[in-house]
Amino acid sequence: MTPLREAIEGCSVLVTVGAGGVGKTTIAAALGLRAAMEGKGSLVCTIDPARRLANALGLSELGNAEARISESTLAAAGLAARAPMHAMMLDMKRTWDELIERRAPPDKRERILNNRFYVALSTALAGSQEYIAMEKLCELRLHRDYPLVVLDTPPTAHAVDFLDAPNRILDFLDNEAAKWLLTPALAAGKFGLKLFNLGGSYIAKTISRFTGTETLQQLAEFMLSLSTMNEGFRERAHETRALLEADTTGFVLVTSALPERLDEAVTFHTMLVQNKMRVVAVVVNRTHAPVPAEAWAACARLPAGALRTKLEQTLKENEHLAKVDALGVQRLAAGCPGTPLVQVPRFELDVHDLSSLWATSNYLWG
Ligand SMILES: Nc1ncnc2c1ncn2[C@@H]1O[C@H](COP(=O)(O)OP(=O)(O)OP(=O)(O)O)[C@@H](O)[C@H]1O
Ligand SMILES: [Mg+2]
Repeated sequence: MTPLREAIEGCSVLVTVGAGGVGKTTIAAALGLRAAMEGKGSLVCTIDPARRLANALGLSELGNAEARISESTLAAAGLAARAPMHAMMLDMKRTWDELIERRAPPDKRERILNNRFYVALSTALAGSQEYIAMEKLCELRLHRDYPLVVLDTPPTAHAVDFLDAPNRILDFLDNEAAKWLLTPALAAGKFGLKLFNLGGSYIAKTISRFTGTETLQQLAEFMLSLSTMNEGFRERAHETRALLEADTTGFVLVTSALPERLDEAVTFHTMLVQNKMRVVAVVVNRTHAPVPAEAWAACARLPAGALRTKLEQTLKENEHLAKVDALGVQRLAAGCPGTPLVQVPRFELDVHDLSSLWATSNYLWG
């Protein structure tokens, strides 16, 4: 059985990860579609999908709404799914708000939600998007019963950003030094921003984007009110970790075979494996196939002239790209021992509708 077929059948969670623009969202959607077509109901949770792909999946707005892809939409693409396929767009702000609403003591909710610092944390902070994607995943596992959830992730160059996200939120909330400094001093408005050189650049960077005592007071208040929720966050961090490490969770590392992407992908793979995450496959997306012999032969049959020269040049370029890709694939195979590689060719057009997702899934399924 091919690796991704086995993963679709055996896993209840698949997470597509990788650097920016490599095809994570596309591969996530193709996996979800394939699962449904094969009879395993799926939900694809996308992050910032291209507009046309979102339309194809029947998603018109954010808001964490899970939408079923209708039978007629599938039929229009010539597809009949044996199980329902759902899709959603992750709404980061909304997920944070829901989290606060669930966790914060009722008398503190409003103040947290309206706090300027909270607004910054929930929308802009590094790692926040990764964190919230995993928060949503836990929610979906706990409260929904999709046989398969395919989680798309934000572009992450370093696996550690992704894996560390829950801990970084905890570090942030747990920062005793910050609380100790903040509480009395800030209330009195005594200290300047330089006191916030807390060593953890994570917090310092964010704070340095703001100035003024009023902001610092808001921050103090924010951290104090959040401190009551630490236990909840800690528990959730453990749950997330357990879910990511589970036997029924598989990571699909997406990359291209371009030389500049290889080291990144290998490092990502190493980090995942070191962290006990199961990488079910490395998908090498947008690879170039070698030029078939018939194409060369047809070219040779053309009369000598401008057209033939041009065609020869194009074929040579393609041949070169295919060679670069083949070398890349070799290097990936060597750098990711024990993990199967699955290649998806570069299509002429973007993958933005159900038919091209289906075509993509054929390569994934094997
Ligand atoms: N095999 C392929 N052939 C042709 N186009 C592709 C292929 N795979 C993906 N694409 C196109 O490449 C673009 C980027 O893909 P996608 O949005 O899935 O990448 P991503 O990794 O999710 O990006 P981001 O990191 O920005 O979230 C899209 O327009 C998609 O249609
Ligand atoms: Mg994407």
